[in-house]
Amino acid sequence: MDLISIRDLSKKDIEGILDAAEEIQKGKRKPNLEGKILATLFFEASTRTKLSFQSAAMRNKMGYVDFLPETSSLKKGESYIDTIKTVAGYADVLAVRHPKEGSARFAADSIDKPVVNGGDGANQHPTQTLIDLFSIRKGKGRIGGLNVTLLGDLKYARTMRSLVYGLAMFGANVTLVSPPGLEMEQSYLDEIKKTFKFNVEFKNEPEYSQADVLYVCRIQQERFADPYEAKRVTEKFAIKKDDLKDAKEDLIILHPLPKINEIEATIDQMKQAKYFEQAHNGVPVRQAVLEYALSR
Ligand code: NCD
Repeated sequence: MDLISIRDLSKKDIEGILDAAEEIQKGKRKPNLEGKILATLFFEASTRTKLSFQSAAMRNKMGYVDFLPETSSLKKGESYIDTIKTVAGYADVLAVRHPKEGSARFAADSIDKPVVNGGDGANQHPTQTLIDLFSIRKGKGRIGGLNVTLLGDLKYARTMRSLVYGLAMFGANVTLVSPPGLEMEQSYLDEIKKTFKFNVEFKNEPEYSQADVLYVCRIQQERFADPYEAKRVTEKFAIKKDDLKDAKEDLIILHPLPKINEIEATIDQMKQAKYFEQAHNGVPVRQAVLEYALSR
């Protein structure tokens, strides 16, 4: 079973994966996929997604092979899709990240092994959304009815694009706040509105006191056409500890990481800051994802 977009999953599928991840994290369930091999093919930089996929495979008693673009035949001019077709013969499931939107779907349509999208350009990052939903459910006990503020680069961040769909599916109230010019694509939001009863608001500045969940992401500099513009926006965009003085006691602050300078370092010490725990949730969630991908 491929996992390319969060839209590939029903609410029931997501709940099943989150429940399995919860049992795995609590030590109540130990997936055994001995003999199966994961291939990680990351054509774009990664710390968390790649390493937590590899860690998840090991915890599931699987092996893994890692494709490194810099020392591969990509350097000799081999194409992306020839690489995918080759590696498909070396593994049972592929986790793929690539800067081009649609690349994961292209891989899935070209081979008969399950493909899990580890991020395709500014498009989708479904396993990060599962981690985010897991972290919200774990921190708040529910997702529906919560006030969730998404703050940052809503135009280029695939984490935001995937997450907004997941939040709509679960009935959260979503507030979108972005620097001017980095708003989320309207046609995507319209598509979500057609599918779910979706409470979405747009603000120029976040109302920190109203939020149950504050989800921040960095400005995706590498996706800007103009590096000067990217630098200018990045320098202006930062949350200070003082901004959070009226925030709810039980607010949770999430971030897919890496964070650059959009969250002042002292915020890390606040009890509301949950982003490192969120990153660690990546292992049980991806263990459950690998089980899901290999089970059908
Ligand atoms: C994100 C990504 O690659 O989209 N990182 C991640 O997977 N945790 C977020 C980002 O790079 O800003």
